[in-house]
Amino acid sequence: MSQVTADGAITASKKQAEFERFTAELERRNRERKIHSFYPDEGPLRRGLYPKHMEFFAAGLTHRERCIMAANRIGKTEGCGGYETTLQCTGDYPYWWPGRKFDRPIAAWAAGKTNETTRDIIQRKLLGQITGSGSSKKNVDGTGLIPAEMLGKPTWKQGVADFVDTIPVLHGPSRRWTTLGFKSYQQGSGSFEGTEQDLIWLDEEPDMSIYGECLIRTATTNGMIMLTFTPLLGLSKVVMSFLPAEATPGYDDDVVRTDLG
Ligand SMILES: Nc1ncnc2c1ncn2[C@@H]1O[C@H](COP(=O)(O)OP(=O)(O)OP(=O)(O)O)[C@@H](O)[C@H]1O
Ligand SMILES: [Mg+2]
Repeated sequence: MSQVTADGAITASKKQAEFERFTAELERRNRERKIHSFYPDEGPLRRGLYPKHMEFFAAGLTHRERCIMAANRIGKTEGCGGYETTLQCTGDYPYWWPGRKFDRPIAAWAAGKTNETTRDIIQRKLLGQITGSGSSKKNVDGTGLIPAEMLGKPTWKQGVADFVDTIPVLHGPSRRWTTLGFKSYQQGSGSFEGTEQDLIWLDEEPDMSIYGECLIRTATTNGMIMLTFTPLLGLSKVVMSFLPAEATPGYDDDVVRTDLG
């Protein structure tokens, strides 16, 4: 009898340990595959509640330059720029994806205002937290939008602690590597010169010299530029370039009516 009890106790504790391992593994996978929790079919975060976000994605089919200029906290960075950058880098699109698709690995940049904000916001949202230390051990933990299993080994920028320079991202369908680079406007328009890019995501408003460089980098590839920002700088050149003519200063409604008449 006592033998049976002992076996039973061992079995129960084994089962408990197995259960804990299973739930820990499930939690790890959910943490490292955050992208799949966005825009579900049903529930409180269902994509039907995000018509503007869907319009932004769909516009990629027909427009090389896209901008979501909107209020704070509505999902510009993570819900639009970060989400689409992840899909375009990995080539892993949900079945309902209404936008453009690349069928090969791409070259992409993600950029923000300063080195620090790009690292703390964009890099964090795409790649997760920093782990380890020292150039050979330091890494990112893959708890951002790009699944951990799709991330290669990053290279680091000189002079800015923990700021990724480039990171390979596995393009699933081809089993080859996308190159994702991080930049900041603080580095100046010169740092945006150089290589051709298929996708550039600018989170926060750049000045025209940087935006112009990005247009050049994507011109020969028929690449895409995505801007996601709240217009804090007023009617800047970049803002005006996305506004319809009738919303820009100096537009004379009477003149247009006369011309049409
Ligand atoms: N589609 C989504 N589904 C679920 N959560 C989302 C979605 N989009 C954004 N979020 C969450 O909402 C919060 C705000 O999102 P995000 O940072 O993208 O907004 P933002 O418009 O860029 O904000 P800010 O004005 O501060 O720059 C974040 O915590 C993000 O995880
Ligand atoms: Mg933002």
